Amino acid sequence: MDTNGHAPTALAILREQVEYHNHRYHTLADPEISDGEYDRLFANLLDMERQFPELVTHESPTQRVGAKPVGKLAKLPHAVPMLSLDNLFCEADVIEFDRRVREGINRDDDVSYVAEPKVDGVAVSLVFVDGRLDHATTRGDGKTGDDVTALVRTIRTVPLHLPGKGVPGLLDVRCEVYMAKHDVAQLNVAIRDQGKQPFANPRSAVASTLRLTDPQVAHRRLLRIFCHDLGHHEEGRMPPMHIDALCQLREWHLPIIQDWDLAIGVDACLDFYRNLSARRSNLPYATDGVVYKVNGILNRDRLGSNARSPRWAAAHKFT
Ligand code: IVH
Repeated sequence: MDTNGHAPTALAILREQVEYHNHRYHTLADPEISDGEYDRLFANLLDMERQFPELVTHESPTQRVGAKPVGKLAKLPHAVPMLSLDNLFCEADVIEFDRRVREGINRDDDVSYVAEPKVDGVAVSLVFVDGRLDHATTRGDGKTGDDVTALVRTIRTVPLHLPGKGVPGLLDVRCEVYMAKHDVAQLNVAIRDQGKQPFANPRSAVASTLRLTDPQVAHRRLLRIFCHDLGHHEEGRMPPMHIDALCQLREWHLPIIQDWDLAIGVDACLDFYRNLSARRSNLPYATDGVVYKVNGILNRDRLGSNARSPRWAAAHKFT
């Protein structure tokens, strides 16, 4: 095989296979092949790339972990501001939120919401340009955040390129980087063993891990990610409902938030809250509340946002 012959096609097929099985294993937790078979595929890919170094691309699955520390994190601006959420502290607040939503869109009947756990981690936006992961940025002050691209690339469930058709030229996905509760507990054991101060909560463990610039530090591997919203979307068809957006993100192999449900009307929202509150201690991730989001995208546009937060969503905190 020479570079003008079959190598580019063979490499592309091999990369696609590795990406496919990576997605089945890490995102869907439903592998089709054994770990040994996956390791062999990956080794074949490494082998071929060694033979044809000129064909190695930045998106190849072999290029997730950079070799060198990235140094101080650079600042990057957000194309669309990353907003925060207003907090609701009791049922009366939720009823008032729903009343304001219905007033804003001129509706007397039940509004369709999506209820999701509020995952306790660090907000990150992933930006894909022509289907390739271009950069990942923390929320920062909402206008500018830290460039955490090198680190986010190491999270196995983050696709370095989006498969399939209909991928918009520019796609900004809003996510939460988090750690599983048991991983934080284990990390804290190791930190105590070194005589250091353990992390007070998962969020501080994640925030501090995201600031690590050395790609070889093993506990960076503990970071996980959930996508919970489409931030900005160009040259593609905007899905009419939030649930369609979640399904679209899933089709592009992005790991979407789990445990969400459709809630028609405020009573269904409160039912979801009570149910999640009861299950909270059994969930593998830390959550500090429920986010209610208006499902219809046109209704969201009508409601708009103020400087700090959207009027179409709010966080109902656990007590
Ligand atoms: S939606 C316009 N959904 O909570 C804001 N946020 O206080 C859209 N968060 O910065 C945010 N889980 O990082 C949304 N299921 C979820 C979330 C979630 C955690 C974080 C998010 C945001 C913060 C707001």
